[in-house]
Amino acid sequence: MTSRINLQVRMRRFPQGRVDPADFELVEFPVPEPGEGEVLVRNEWLSLDPYMRLRMDPRRSYVEGLRLGDLMPGGTVGVVVASRDPTIPPGARVVGTRMGWQLWSCVPGSALRTIADNGVPLSTALGVCGMPGVTAHYGLFVVGRLRRGETVVVSAASGAVGSVVGQLARIRGARAIGIAGGAAKCRYVVEALGFDDCIDHRSPDFEARLADATPQRVDVQFENVGGTVMDAVLARLNEHARIVLCGLVSEYEQGPASGLRNTRELLVNRATLQAFIVSEHLDYWPGALEELAQWVRSGELRYREDVTEGLENAPAAFASMLQGGNFGKKLVRLDDDPVIEQGVQ
Ligand SMILES: NC(=O)c1ccc[n+]([C@@H]2O[C@H](COP(=O)([O-])OP(=O)(O)OC[C@H]3O[C@@H](n4cnc5c(N)ncnc54)[C@H](OP(=O)(O)O)[C@@H]3O)[C@@H](O)[C@H]2O)c1
Repeated sequence: MTSRINLQVRMRRFPQGRVDPADFELVEFPVPEPGEGEVLVRNEWLSLDPYMRLRMDPRRSYVEGLRLGDLMPGGTVGVVVASRDPTIPPGARVVGTRMGWQLWSCVPGSALRTIADNGVPLSTALGVCGMPGVTAHYGLFVVGRLRRGETVVVSAASGAVGSVVGQLARIRGARAIGIAGGAAKCRYVVEALGFDDCIDHRSPDFEARLADATPQRVDVQFENVGGTVMDAVLARLNEHARIVLCGLVSEYEQGPASGLRNTRELLVNRATLQAFIVSEHLDYWPGALEELAQWVRSGELRYREDVTEGLENAPAAFASMLQGGNFGKKLVRLDDDPVIEQGVQ
């Protein structure tokens, strides 16, 4: 008899401040057989995303927090190995947000999207042609109501969401200014992605450089980071500016956030601040995904992936990403052949 052994990463303890790889444990677990309506998937790529840190926090959030011993949540791309959902045949490539940090996932077929062979690499279904890409699209065009000729400033500009935001702004005919950590990321954002400028938030003259880069001030602030970076952009708002509150990654690992000093700018500019969660707008996804894939195929939309090998290295990669250690969409490539044969008779 052959049995497959799954490898899972679970939360062992609540992180105290910064995530530590010791906050996780690797567990071996038998791979279940799919029940009625379920699909068994061998995962090939795991996405690491900042929201996972919010799930590891016992404080109230927009999704339920994890309990000790829970499987780490996460999106994956994989191949269907067995199926009891007639709409998803074995061999299909699928993406799902409920798959978790594991080599094998057994989930309802309704939780999966089949990836059409649409001329873009599979891994992009977790990045530019997946949740982060749709987040950029929805945030910029629907929440930000971006118009041609306006100025957008986006933080974490070399990352999964931010890199798409600035490029979509350029495609729409707007001016795109990025904020990123370090000279290499800033150079990439301008030279490879075509932003008009990118400012290093670590540089001592960050605020002055941001002012120089935004002579017409800022119409859309696409906020991914929060804290002092957010505060610096508030100081540059234009009248009737829209602040797209997408994320606050600099605040996920600390207690109370550093206070904003420039809230007066919200009042004097009659600004609108709106937060959103992309998973609450599922009707929007199909059209946006199609458009994103088209731009990737045409070369108008570029992307970069930062790949870690092996599930066992996911905790350290995740901890690093939350401190800006990633350069591009953070992915984990799972083992080519994770099947462990046991007790073959
Ligand atoms: N609302 C939604 O539905 C939704 C969906 C997806 C993502 N998000 C949010 O979007 C944001 C970006 O997510 P992502 O997946 O694209 O991640 P990412 O940008 O690929 O990676 C996170 C980046 O955050 C930056 N960062 C971390 N700590 C920072 C700090 N203290 N100060 C400044 N920058 C810091 C780092 O970039 P630098 O080195 O350049 O600083 C790091 O590379 C996150 O806040 C996430 O929660 C929201």
